Amino acid sequence: MTLLGVNIDHVATIREARGGIEPEPVQAAAIAEQNGADQITVHLREDRRHIQDRDLKILRETIQTKLNLEMAATVEMLKIAKTIMPDTITLVPEKREELTTEGGLQLKAEYKQYIDQIRQAGIEVSVFIEPDLKMIRFAHTLGADAVEIHTGKYANLKDKKELNLEIAKIKKAAEEIGKLGMRVVAGHGLNYHNILDLVELDLIEEYNIGHSIISRAVFTGLAEAVYTMKQLITY
Ligand code: PXP
Repeated sequence: MTLLGVNIDHVATIREARGGIEPEPVQAAAIAEQNGADQITVHLREDRRHIQDRDLKILRETIQTKLNLEMAATVEMLKIAKTIMPDTITLVPEKREELTTEGGLQLKAEYKQYIDQIRQAGIEVSVFIEPDLKMIRFAHTLGADAVEIHTGKYANLKDKKELNLEIAKIKKAAEEIGKLGMRVVAGHGLNYHNILDLVELDLIEEYNIGHSIISRAVFTGLAEAVYTMKQLITY
């Protein structure tokens, strides 16, 4: 069975826009799990723009499936991760000025110390990289358990020829990851349309999807939300 990780960062983004208490990401996690999510994914950013340390603590206590923590390879994050003990850590690049995680991680030899420490703590390590064979082989050398293919480029392409080339690249990448014995994961920019061609490859074991699911939820829930408010003010 293909696994679905639901990224709930953007529930926290809406909450942080007002600095209040709603919507509650913990509630979003529970609903996602009740409706088939196999994993809840959150990115604790250095600037805490959406998910907060408090969210992570409560999510660890309440999640019934798996917790996948996306984080930068830093001493601060490693310390937090060892306290929280998520099921998986996905190492991602992080730049303060970016809107979202733009591009995969450029793996370097110094990542090995982080990967080793995370694995020694009993946590699975995934690395978020481009569908690049050299980088995939390097991830294996560094000891990664899983590779999450960055599908951002694929998601942004419009030209059919370029799109087919990118799908072929993702296919080769997925085959190589599997051949090396690592779990094949994909994510970023995936939506209800572009997911279909990747599903057809039948090579990807897990997807982490956030923005499109939260965006769809706005519209599938908007009618009820307006209706209920109208009832409250009508007497
Ligand atoms: N996977 C990783 C490693 C990510 O960093 C993100 C974005 O935070 C996602 C998946 C989800 O991307 P999206 O919100 O575009 O579905």
